[in-house]
Amino acid sequence: QAFLSEVQKDLAQGMLSPRVLNDPDIHRAELDRIFTKCWVFVGHVSEIPSPGDYVLRYVGEDQFILARDEQGEIQLLLNNCVHRASPVCRAEKGNTSHFRCPYHGWIYKNSGEWNGAPHRAKAYRTIDTARWGLRKAPHVDSYQGLIFACLDPDAVPLREYLGDMCWYLDVIFGLNEQGMRAAGDPHRWIVPANWKSGAENFVGDAYHVQSAHSSLGDIGLIPDNSKSVTETFHIALEGGHGLIAIPKALPEPFGVGNYPPEVTSTFDLDRLDDDQRAFLESGYGVVGFTIFPNLSLFQAPGSTEVGGFPAVNTSLRQWQPRGPEQFELWNWPMVWNSAPPEFNQASYDAAVFSFGPSGVFEQDDTVVWRGGPMVGRSAFARQDMKLNFQMGLDGMSDYEPRPDWMGPGEASTSAFGERNQRRWWQRWSEALASS
Ligand code: FES
Repeated sequence: QAFLSEVQKDLAQGMLSPRVLNDPDIHRAELDRIFTKCWVFVGHVSEIPSPGDYVLRYVGEDQFILARDEQGEIQLLLNNCVHRASPVCRAEKGNTSHFRCPYHGWIYKNSGEWNGAPHRAKAYRTIDTARWGLRKAPHVDSYQGLIFACLDPDAVPLREYLGDMCWYLDVIFGLNEQGMRAAGDPHRWIVPANWKSGAENFVGDAYHVQSAHSSLGDIGLIPDNSKSVTETFHIALEGGHGLIAIPKALPEPFGVGNYPPEVTSTFDLDRLDDDQRAFLESGYGVVGFTIFPNLSLFQAPGSTEVGGFPAVNTSLRQWQPRGPEQFELWNWPMVWNSAPPEFNQASYDAAVFSFGPSGVFEQDDTVVWRGGPMVGRSAFARQDMKLNFQMGLDGMSDYEPRPDWMGPGEASTSAFGERNQRRWWQRWSEALASS
């Protein structure tokens, strides 16, 4: 608690101890107080469209089965048998009505209920079948196709947790009835850095693009690298959620008119409210966001075109903790169900090329994030080193409130600030301080 008080005081002055990026005690506290308390993304509805479909997923470091049961309900089941804890499901994905534990053969329905055991009549003449099902997440819900779960029985409803982020999810994913789908299985790879480095980067760090990704500008993959920070701006929301947005000034394919006609003809803006329509019609778009704690989005045009329309990389990204010094990055390229296959293929290729496991942007980011565990391990740095989070603090930069913002949250005039990052860390410290 003393350390967290110090963190909160430091954040008010735009500083942060690097200890947060590798301390094992902090990591354990995150698993206990953040990943079991917050709503955490576990998948997209398009990944389990039919009864019996399932995929393996994680909340923190706990492995779960995300399944659509025989009644069509979505369940999140801890993948550990209640007999001796063996994982009951060893395939990454599939379709089944039941899971049979490989150790002694107990059988569970895909809704989690206990359904039988070998030699039941002799081995379990009486057993409380209602008591011995797989452990289930108490809350599973979805918004605009994104499935979240919360392991806290006393959780607030998902829409309340997402708050104003719902407004932005509507303008990204809710433009038509058909919606978007995951373009195949998520890509996954291990990064030697702390999971929070990714989450805080995508909540507001447009400033790194001109430096970390400068070589991409040099070879023409980013048309004008300087615009990545001069033209983008921040939207800070309650709850530690935040977005990086882009204004009308850039003729990028974010507004509703820049997708192929097969897509735009399905868009129904009556699904949105007046302010959401004004946002899109003004040409605004979302480049990235983070929903606290560990779900992010990236959206930008690719360098290829199909029929005169630039492919669009829209990817959901999740920063899955794997100990204090590494995380597993999960990346879901998303495509419009109404788009032509060749456009979706080009969009998928753009996602893999930029932010896949060998993506050209990905390589740049994962190299720089390695510094967190390094400095956290450093005996010298542990003495009194602080990281600087002061950009945009108290008029220290060109960073003002954006006048007449039509959407929820606090929008800035530029991305020359670290308010979204400070808010994310503030939310993190409050969550850790809760009992
Ligand atoms: Fe699963 Fe024994 S551990 S049946």
